Amino acid sequence: MGKFVVEGLKRLKGDVKISGSKNSALPIMAAALLTEDECILENVPSLRDVNIMERILRSVLVKTEHEEKRDIMKIKADEALFSADNNELMGKIRASFLTAGPLLSRFGRARISLPGGCSIGSRPIDLHLKGLAKLGAEISKEFGVVELKCERLKGAEIYLDFPSVGATENIIMAAALADGVTTVSNAAMEPEIGDLCSFLQKMGVEIYGKGTDTIKVVGCRRLSGAVHQVIPDRIEAGTFMLIGAACGEIRLDNVMTEHLRPIVSKLKEAGVEIVEDGESVTVKNMGCIRNTDIKTMPYPGFPTDMQPQFMSLMTLGQGTGVINETIFENRFMQAGELNRMGADIKTEGSSAIIRGVDRLTGTNVRATDLRAGAALIISALSAEGTTEISDIYHIERGYFKIDEKLRRLGADIRRVDQE
Ligand code: UD1
Repeated sequence: MGKFVVEGLKRLKGDVKISGSKNSALPIMAAALLTEDECILENVPSLRDVNIMERILRSVLVKTEHEEKRDIMKIKADEALFSADNNELMGKIRASFLTAGPLLSRFGRARISLPGGCSIGSRPIDLHLKGLAKLGAEISKEFGVVELKCERLKGAEIYLDFPSVGATENIIMAAALADGVTTVSNAAMEPEIGDLCSFLQKMGVEIYGKGTDTIKVVGCRRLSGAVHQVIPDRIEAGTFMLIGAACGEIRLDNVMTEHLRPIVSKLKEAGVEIVEDGESVTVKNMGCIRNTDIKTMPYPGFPTDMQPQFMSLMTLGQGTGVINETIFENRFMQAGELNRMGADIKTEGSSAIIRGVDRLTGTNVRATDLRAGAALIISALSAEGTTEISDIYHIERGYFKIDEKLRRLGADIRRVDQE
């Protein structure tokens, strides 16, 4: 267990290199279960969630090797088992359930531990299971484990009641080795799904409609290994953009600017200067933030994974901003912690009203989840005095060496190990 100790009000300036996307790396690692051949993934950061997914793969006898210095992950699933039912390990990350689609379609059988609820909402898996059932899986649940069986999956027309990211990914992976064509309508369009489709195409799957809400997958009998570079993390990029907007001038390298549209648009509305240049983007604090309204939506709408960080930015803005969170039912846990630092935030149901204040002051706060933790870092950097952020293992699930990256920009942030 560690904590971050942050001395606020330092002006930050410099360049930061954005790491590979956690939310792309996790499903792509699961997709490597679809083949006996070796897959080589580049730009895979050594994050806590990635390390857990690697342990999950090893628990089903997959050979993995993560060259952390070069961000390369090699995966070979030639001797993989169909049973990923280590409840304790599988319960550590929601993405563990992404092994269901690949294992089922490869072995005709899968035993997968149910992922638990989590602090930001109940996060059911009904849409995953409904989709897999449409492909022909027989499903039963017992003792916290889902058992899925089929002769061979058969392509089907699947309409998702909600464009769930994980359900879209699980269904596409299952469809990759199914007999015939699968069409997923109302599919999620997040860039990480496009990245998964690119990887599957390299493995030999025919996919149409990549990046749209209707994805067509033509199943294959056998898939080969592939080499693939994971896309840059748009949420890490967005977080550093907000840090630049709050505390100075930051140039981000290794970004895909088209994935950052909703964030750029809201920052410009708030009066932040942004210059895009190929694979880099520079964000500059222009004095005062004008508070604005935000509604989280599936991509290409404003990402729920950037909502807590934007709330932090608005605590010191001019005027009042309203956030409407439409994706998760309990994603305002950072508000109470920010109020302890002097913010003026009122939450009611899925809405939060943020009235800008003149100053925040440091105190002891707790990271309740990954993005709430990132929000606390932004506020700690903008507050007078010292802020201690505990439970930073949440932050380390999704941000690679964030303290080191911030120190290089001039931040005063220390990581302290605790008992
Ligand atoms: C992914 C991301 C996460 C992000 C989220 C929404 C990964 C590893 N994680 O999570 O960072 O916050 O997308 O952009 O990529 N739902 C159901 N039934 C289901 C599945 C989902 O009701 O079977 C609901 C969820 O409870 C939630 C909403 O749909 O309210 C969105 O969830 P989903 O898009 O599935 O998110 P994840 O894939 O879990």
